[in-house]
Amino acid sequence: VSPRDKGESPARSGSRPYEGRWALVTGASSGLGEAFAVELAARGANVALAARRTDRLAALAARLGDSHGTRTLTVAADLGQASAPAEIMDALQCEGVAVDFLVNNAGSGLKDRYLDYDWAAHDSYLNLMVRSCAELSWRVLPGMVERRYGRMIQVASVAGLLPGSRGHTLYGACKAFLVSFSQSLAAEYGGQGIKVSALCPGFISTEFHDVAGTREVVARQPRFMFSSPEDVVASGLHALERGQVVHIPGKINKLSTRLLRELPTAWAAKIVAGQAGD
Ligand SMILES: NC(=O)c1ccc[n+]([C@@H]2O[C@H](COP(=O)([O-])OP(=O)(O)OC[C@H]3O[C@@H](n4cnc5c(N)ncnc54)[C@H](OP(=O)(O)O)[C@@H]3O)[C@@H](O)[C@H]2O)c1
Repeated sequence: VSPRDKGESPARSGSRPYEGRWALVTGASSGLGEAFAVELAARGANVALAARRTDRLAALAARLGDSHGTRTLTVAADLGQASAPAEIMDALQCEGVAVDFLVNNAGSGLKDRYLDYDWAAHDSYLNLMVRSCAELSWRVLPGMVERRYGRMIQVASVAGLLPGSRGHTLYGACKAFLVSFSQSLAAEYGGQGIKVSALCPGFISTEFHDVAGTREVVARQPRFMFSSPEDVVASGLHALERGQVVHIPGKINKLSTRLLRELPTAWAAKIVAGQAGD
C-alpha cells in the first residue's frame, strides 16, 4: 500500500473523527477485523467486537480500553448460523448501543472443489459470507438513515472482481455479491449522510490462509504481493471517507486487477488459476 493510499493516520494527525460513535466489527478476533477495531478506537469510536473466539475478543477489548479509553462490547457469534445477526443486534440493543459504523469483515475459505463439501458446509458458509452481511446491513441502516449518519465497509476481495477458478468455489462469488451490494446501497442511501464502501484487498498477512489450509500455495507468492492488515485498514478508511464505493488498496493490486480485467476472460482465468496453485 502506497503512502498516499494509507490516508491520514490519527497517530499523525491526532484527529478522532468517530468520537462517541459506536462501530460494530465482525471477525474482530484476528487479522483485518482486529486491525479495524484498533484503528476505529484510535479514531475515537466505541467498538462492539463480534466473533466466535471470545477469549481473543475480551483481550482486545481490554487493550482498546487501556490505550484509547474506548467503550467496548464483545458478542459471541457464529455467523455461520442464520440466527446470529439478529442475536448480535439484540445484544447491542440491550446495552443501548446504536451502530453508526458497520464493518462486515468476518470471513473464511473452503479451499477444495464444490462437491468436496456437504451442503451443510456451503449453507453455513453462505450465511457467513453473504447472508450475515446483508442482514446486519439491513438491521443497522434504519438507524443510520434516521440519524443521517452512517459508515459501512463490506470487506470483499480482488477475487470478487476477477474470474473464478478451481477451489474456493463460492469465495469469489460471495465477494462479487458484496461489491454489487455496496454499489446499490451507496446509490440508495449515499445522499443521506451514509457512506458505503466495498474494500477489495489482495493478499493480506493474516491467519486467513492458515485457517483455510492454503498457506503452502500462498507462500509461493512474492512478499511484495502481501499487505499488512494495518495498511489495508488505513487505506480502506481513507477511501470510505473520500466516497470511493469500490476500493482496491495498494498500487500493485490496483494495477494487476485492472490489467486482468482488460484481458480476455479466458486469459485472465488462466492467470488467476495459476495464482490459486493450479
Ligand atoms: N487474508 C487475505 O489474504 C484476504 C484477502 C482479501 C480479503 N480478505 C477478507 O478479509 C476478511 C478478514 O479475513 P482475515 O484475512 O483477517 O482472516 P483471519 O485472520 O482468519 O480472520 C477471520 C475473522 O473472521 C472470523 N470468523 C470466521 N468464521 C466466522 C464465523 N463462522 N462466525 C464469526 N466469525 C467468524 C474469525 O473469528 P473466529 O474464528 O474467532 O470466529 C476471525 O476474526 C475476510 O472477509 C476475508 O475474506 C482476506
